[in-house]
Amino acid sequence: MKVGILGSGDVGTTLAEGFLKHGHEVTLGTRSPAKLADWQAANPKGKVAGFADTAKFGEAVVLAVKGTVAADALRAAGAANLTGKVIIDAANPITDQPPVNGVLRFFTGPNDSMMEQLQKEFPAARFVKAFNSVGAALMINPQFKAGKPTMFICGNDESAKKTVGKILDQFGWETADMGDVTAARAIEPLCMLWCIRGFLHNEWGHAFKLLT
Ligand SMILES: NC(=O)c1ccc[n+]([C@@H]2O[C@H](COP(=O)([O-])OP(=O)(O)OC[C@H]3O[C@@H](n4cnc5c(N)ncnc54)[C@H](OP(=O)(O)O)[C@@H]3O)[C@@H](O)[C@H]2O)c1
Repeated sequence: MKVGILGSGDVGTTLAEGFLKHGHEVTLGTRSPAKLADWQAANPKGKVAGFADTAKFGEAVVLAVKGTVAADALRAAGAANLTGKVIIDAANPITDQPPVNGVLRFFTGPNDSMMEQLQKEFPAARFVKAFNSVGAALMINPQFKAGKPTMFICGNDESAKKTVGKILDQFGWETADMGDVTAARAIEPLCMLWCIRGFLHNEWGHAFKLLT
């Protein structure tokens, strides 16, 4: 699959390398392609481009920018370049203020979510929340004694979720589909829960598992 990744931070570069490892074609998108010269040299099979060309390239597009600028990044990518595309939304609505007692602050309320806001603004794009509730270092084929961790996903489009489920299989996760975009109200705050152990105890090596 051709994957365009919007954002070149830890998540963007980690997922880019994961997709390359599993045989996909990747363009890594940034506002400043020149700053990714080292990444490009280390990953000659990947391409680097601006946001619009990255979105145009992708059959699937990953959203991996700061939540505060997620809508701006998608506008820069261009609604026309997102039409019909699977958008794998790894972003979280975290404010620029520091956490309180290890708990991140969100700019969304409990009966709202960032992905709902983005899905409303870009109705022709097929958003699927994924990869937002674990640290970048564990996103690709994480190894736990207890077995595969669970990635909670949601979104309105069943076939888009199937596509993301196949990617998660390759990346060593089991998938828990929690329903339509509304479930992002519950999945986005999982990143708060995930980060607390990090901020309070400097422990970052965990992931969630759904036991049934
Ligand atoms: N770090 C993690 O372990 C982790 C885990 C799960 C989810 N997440 C979420 O994933 C997202 C990415 O996290 P991250 O840690 O990789 O990096 P980040 O520092 O949150 O975001 C980096 C990206 O944001 C882009 N950006 C910053 N300001 C922008 C603007 N004004 N307009 C457009 N783009 C802008 C940057 O683009 P340029 O390349 O152009 O500079 C950069 O690629 C966040 O929403 C985060 O909450 C992070």
